[in-house]
Amino acid sequence: MTSPESPVIPPANRMPAMHPTPRSTPRSSMPSTTRYSEVGRRIDALVRTANVPVVRASSVLFESLAAVDLALEDTARGVRHATTYGTCGVPTTMALMDAVAELEGWGAAPALDRKGPGTRAALVPSGLAAIALAVLTFAASGDHVLMPDSIYGPGRALAQGQLARAGIEATFYDPRIDPAGLAQLMRPRTRIVYLESPGSYTFEIQDVAGLAAMAREHGALSMIDNAWGSPLHFHPFEHGVDVSIVPLTKYWGGHADVLMGAVVVTDELWPTLWRTVRGLGLCVSSDDAWLVLRGLRTLPQRVAQHEVSAIAVAQWLQRHDGVVRVLHPALPDHPDHALWRRDFSGSCGLFSVELERGLESRVAALVEGRRHFGIGYSWGGFESLIMPARLQGLRTTKPWDGGPLVRLHVGLESVADLLEDLEQGFQAMGIAPR
Ligand SMILES: Cc1ncc(COP(=O)(O)O)c(C=O)c1O
Repeated sequence: MTSPESPVIPPANRMPAMHPTPRSTPRSSMPSTTRYSEVGRRIDALVRTANVPVVRASSVLFESLAAVDLALEDTARGVRHATTYGTCGVPTTMALMDAVAELEGWGAAPALDRKGPGTRAALVPSGLAAIALAVLTFAASGDHVLMPDSIYGPGRALAQGQLARAGIEATFYDPRIDPAGLAQLMRPRTRIVYLESPGSYTFEIQDVAGLAAMAREHGALSMIDNAWGSPLHFHPFEHGVDVSIVPLTKYWGGHADVLMGAVVVTDELWPTLWRTVRGLGLCVSSDDAWLVLRGLRTLPQRVAQHEVSAIAVAQWLQRHDGVVRVLHPALPDHPDHALWRRDFSGSCGLFSVELERGLESRVAALVEGRRHFGIGYSWGGFESLIMPARLQGLRTTKPWDGGPLVRLHVGLESVADLLEDLEQGFQAMGIAPR
């Protein structure tokens, strides 16, 4: 029951009574509920900051209905910086979209009607989501895609699970295949030639320009996972690739504290990609976009240090007992070193080491208990990581037949500390100090 003293619906413009005891402050002096919605929303001071601020928003406001109509039209067409709602973009995410489009899209032919990189970037919650978005946007039921055997593991699972469910068939190919060989696998409904160079864990370098050109001749799109390229050292669009998949989680974010991915396409493909992004309601938070923006400011310096330190660790490993070979494309004895030199301007902190057969049961001793190398997935952060490869079921054209394979991400710690840590690991395996 209600009474005049305690109404269920509070009188307009008043705070509801929280308790029936009389107060010393008269109610009329309390701020109205309207003020709770309106205070602190206008900042007259114009403060310029070096960094783009975090703008969090679901609702975007308009001056008029005519402005709404215009924004709806522009947003549907994917016009840069057009938005009607937080999912379509807010200043922080727009800033990152621009940054990724320009840096990753380097080398794309500028669009005729404007200056600029000629590419656009869509942001999604992870690198894996970027792979899924790219493939599901440009292939449909009945279509066929070609994927390298060395694809990032969850990418293979995507093909065998979600893509298969959607009626998209994937064929896995030897990542070292030449364009003529891959042309043999093309079918009338092959829509996508997917590339990843170097390959996950086994570090094969692909002839990206040759394979992309072959795809184009056959009316298919080429797309590449450019995580390792960083984007400092490989620019997919310079090699004729149509779609770049960018796990921003890695060196772009760079601090092991944010997950994000991007799909970067030429202007021509943007409307199709943008329609899918909007249709699926894909978006990222401004806080996360801000972290990636912050990370990318130091990307060149960090990657340069990762590269130098990783090569020092790789060369040390090459000389170590128990090691068969180091799989690092920048080392002259890597089978694809010439191709790497042709296409890449540098490397990064990620490579693998193959140990002698028979050491399988002792890999745990090398990996566990390290002081500086953490056991963990992902890479591209400031810290060193070590992880044995588990390639069973992940190589179908040519199963891995070497010794135990261990992947290292060399972080920004001192190389001397990292070598000491690894030496202790070798000792724990029973391999004598050098
Ligand atoms: C080559 C490669 N591509 C894509 C991904 C996926 O990125 P994310 O961790 O953001 O999903 C990874 C993650 O380790 C990767 O190594």
